[in-house]
Amino acid sequence: MEIYFATGNLHKLAEANSILSEFGVLLKPAPSQKIEIQSDSLEEIARYAAEAAYRSLGSPLVVEDSGLFVESLNGFPGPYSSYVYKTIGCGGILRLLEDKCNRAARFECVVVYAGGDSLRSFVGVANGSIAESPRGSGGFGFDPIFVCEGCGGRTFSELRPSEKSAVSHRGRAFRALGEWISRSGREHTLK
Ligand code: IMP
Repeated sequence: MEIYFATGNLHKLAEANSILSEFGVLLKPAPSQKIEIQSDSLEEIARYAAEAAYRSLGSPLVVEDSGLFVESLNGFPGPYSSYVYKTIGCGGILRLLEDKCNRAARFECVVVYAGGDSLRSFVGVANGSIAESPRGSGGFGFDPIFVCEGCGGRTFSELRPSEKSAVSHRGRAFRALGEWISRSGREHTLK
């Protein structure tokens, strides 16, 4: 069972496929680029991109938008995580937190499925905190500085991929999608 995934991020594709394979679903990279609008809402960004991609492709697809929300920075970088990662990176976030006691943070992920008459959102959240310094070598993006709740103080980068998927924002959102596809049958697949 195959569905397109409109993303240029191969890490996201691999993580999503490792989860959806449990549901007999394979995500294939969509031939078109994800269109990104600016908004404070991950869901609005993902829904817009999914509708636009579905209009141009005409086949069932998913789009994902995610971000890191740091409590003492009022949720920054949130929907701007990709740009902030490219500009100031993990080091920049650590510098912004130098004088803060509260290091609580969360990752959020919104997956939107578009196909047929359906436009459905699935949300996943991973709560945790920002480490004092980067640790580990796995994953991507802010993984080296995000300590996930319930992971024995390890950052996402210090987890095996399967351990990250079990607790991550992306794991939770794509599992919810997989469960919905399993419940509602095979009509949600590439023709
Ligand atoms: P976007 O969803 O493509 O706009 O990008 C979200 C950005 O948030 C990514 O470029 C990463 O910097 C960051 N991000 C999202 N999910 C993760 C994750 O699982 N680990 C580390 N960083 C992430």
